[in-house]
Amino acid sequence: MRIALGSDHGGYRLKEAIKEHLTKKGHFVTDYGTDSIESVDYPDYAEKLCHGILNGEADRGILICGTGIGIAIAANKVKGIRCATVSDVFSAKKCVEHNNCQVMSLGERTIGFGLALELAEAFLTATFEGDRHQRRVDKIMEIENQK
Ligand code: RB5
Repeated sequence: MRIALGSDHGGYRLKEAIKEHLTKKGHFVTDYGTDSIESVDYPDYAEKLCHGILNGEADRGILICGTGIGIAIAANKVKGIRCATVSDVFSAKKCVEHNNCQVMSLGERTIGFGLALELAEAFLTATFEGDRHQRRVDKIMEIENQK
């Protein structure tokens, strides 16, 4: 699977750990930055990664900031993107199975690295179930198209 990773400074260390883990597992990983713990603005990285997903550069994306919240809010402003902030394995699966999220966000300051790797695994192996969930996702996207 082709996986996009992105973070601000608050998520940099966890991004690097996830990158190492996924690369070792044989995934093709594209890193949209940031490249250090120097302070940056999370919307810039959310936007870059989400455009990468929409352009077909990666199948799924994982965004990380301090809490996972700001970077998810920014990601969900990109038209066509569905991003969920996750801190449990059940939600990491369901955000794909039910909500067809292409992007998951994590908080480096809120969860342990071991759990984060399990969340990545759950998110990346889940499949959208379609059917009634497709109807609901379509309704979400209709809201996005309202002016
Ligand atoms: C940066 O200090 C912090 O605000 C950011 O990483 C994130 O937690 C925002 O939601």
